[in-house]
Amino acid sequence: MTEKNYKRYLITSALPYANGPVHIGHLAGVYVPADIYVRYLRMCGRDVLFIGGSDEHGVPITIKAKQQGCTPQDIVDKYHGIIKDAFEEFGISFDVYSRTSSSTHRRVAADFFKKLYEEGKFIEKESEQYYDEEAKQFLADRYIVGTCPKCGAEGAYGDQCEKCGSTLSPDELLNPHSSLSGNTPIKKKTKHWYLPLDQYEPWLKEWILDGHKEWKSNVYGQCKSWIDGGLQPRAVSRDLDWGVPVPVEGAEGKVLYVWFDAPIGYISNTIEICPEDWETWWKDEETKMVHFIGKDNIVFHCIVFPSMLKAHGDYILPENVPANEFLNLEGDKISTSRNWAIWLHEYLRDFEGQQDVLRYVLCANAPETKDNDFTWKDFQTRNNSELVAIYGNFVNRAVVLTHKYFGGKVPANLKPEAIDAEVLAQIPELKKAIQENLENYRFREALKEAMNLARLGNKYLTETEPWKVAKTDMDRVASILGVSLEICANLAFAFAPFLPFSTKKLCNMLNIAEEKLIWDNFGTKLLEEGHTLGAAELLFSKIEDPQIDAQLQRLEDIRKKNEEAAKAKEPKVAPAKEQCTFEDFEKMDIRTATVLEAERVPKTDKLLKLKIDTGLDVRTIVSGIAEYYTPEEMVGKQISILANLAPRKIRGIESQGMILMAKELDGKMRIVTPEERLGNGATIG
Ligand code: 2FM
Ligand code: ZN
Repeated sequence: MTEKNYKRYLITSALPYANGPVHIGHLAGVYVPADIYVRYLRMCGRDVLFIGGSDEHGVPITIKAKQQGCTPQDIVDKYHGIIKDAFEEFGISFDVYSRTSSSTHRRVAADFFKKLYEEGKFIEKESEQYYDEEAKQFLADRYIVGTCPKCGAEGAYGDQCEKCGSTLSPDELLNPHSSLSGNTPIKKKTKHWYLPLDQYEPWLKEWILDGHKEWKSNVYGQCKSWIDGGLQPRAVSRDLDWGVPVPVEGAEGKVLYVWFDAPIGYISNTIEICPEDWETWWKDEETKMVHFIGKDNIVFHCIVFPSMLKAHGDYILPENVPANEFLNLEGDKISTSRNWAIWLHEYLRDFEGQQDVLRYVLCANAPETKDNDFTWKDFQTRNNSELVAIYGNFVNRAVVLTHKYFGGKVPANLKPEAIDAEVLAQIPELKKAIQENLENYRFREALKEAMNLARLGNKYLTETEPWKVAKTDMDRVASILGVSLEICANLAFAFAPFLPFSTKKLCNMLNIAEEKLIWDNFGTKLLEEGHTLGAAELLFSKIEDPQIDAQLQRLEDIRKKNEEAAKAKEPKVAPAKEQCTFEDFEKMDIRTATVLEAERVPKTDKLLKLKIDTGLDVRTIVSGIAEYYTPEEMVGKQISILANLAPRKIRGIESQGMILMAKELDGKMRIVTPEERLGNGATIG
């Protein structure tokens, strides 16, 4: 290792919320890279602990429970099971996968809070918050719904409008009401505890901005912008009945804020797996802690949790937080609520036994430096043209030919040539490149180098053509296959951190124990002459169009359904305008008038030119009503006009006023007329 030599490695991966299954965005952002890193460290013989678990608190879980008429515990039990099983089947090699509703976690999180509380590390503050008198509870932002002040959509939440995406605060919502009872909530005082992040600002500056310039630029940049923007105290408690109860007197009905307890889950889960020596993992400076997370978690893992650890005083801090950006799906943001995702547990059923294909594609396409897109076509191409055509094809040819010509035994090197040495000499270089990239969290690059080793082997076989040479020179064939098998064995090392399932198959084919895949052995001669290979099998198989088409069709169906749902949610009437004064209204001279003549404005679809009698004068108005009225229909109609609108030119014609129209949101328009015909020039107001 190029850095300080650590004694042990504590690798954490974000605890997914147990209110839904995990999808490819989670995998590409967090779990695949974390697992690659951990597998690599284990191959290096490091002492590693890989911590995972479900995040089982927070408001969305309580909302889901209400919607489904069950308890939050039912919800988390269901999803914790689905997530845990899917991770296991996908080969995410956690040492522990626990949950934040466990009794250990409740105790550890409560003790953590208590210590900070007793040492006066929190600020206690009262504030006014929305309260539902009927439901007798304070309302989390998500429980307050109303009209979006930005776009007028109904059903906007107290923290966000899903229609226009604006971030909101409950006070901004128009006509706020409680989603529990439907009533208008009142404001009521409530006490909470705050972590004064502002006090940690100088320390954070030094620790991150000066001390961790090597962090990924997306992570460093986000930290810098938070710190430069000035940090505020953050509430670490909530009025809610689901979570870890705040362990102090007078805090009935309050729980720890989910973002306070969740990262403590890393500690609790370590305690569960290492009850005796967990403290060495968390308190000894010779532990290297790395948090794998997605970009939406950066502030919590780089600023909030480290400040909590610092306030506590006993714990080490993360050495790195290699957060990834987001993965999109077929050009659209992945969304759990819109079901726009590829769910891991479904992938595992649809592509039985093909875990490594998804692992490969998600790593090859990982959003390491910017958001990236997953497409099913790319998935198919990477499988068929890379895994099958390069890696799988090479290994298969080498093993099958050895069975064919040498009874499955590694042949002696009877006739070496220069090309053999040249090819073998590249292995240490590729190893070095893979290693450097892995150590610096550049997993895409590392994987590319591993595939380059397969490319090298494939090219070597294609160029040396042992199947042709076999007609004349079996000694040479022995050397070619010997070199090829050597490359195969090294491929097992190169791909082991990334593709555990095919690595296992490859080891079986080569008849080498997986335990032999120690990083130091990568690049050494591995297969002795006479070593017997196992049976040949295909490492990967082609993915055909119908399988991909079925996936695309599924997404298309979801897209359609979402569009229909969005349409149904669209407001039926235009949002209310700002108040105006009586004086504002009085300024408008609105009158009845009659259309004398009407004609289309040439070269337009929407405009009619009307000559009208206003009772005051005869004038011209250009109006955008041609889609709704023909010129013939308009002639003779009584209308209402804004007579004192400043004249303006429309298509070169001076329009002297405006016709009043009633317009529905879908665009349909009708003229506004008095109930019975009046004289022209009657004032309206
Ligand atoms: O964003 C999320 O899915 C959170 N549940 C991550 C929590 S990470 C840690 F703090 F537990
Ligand atoms: Zn909105």
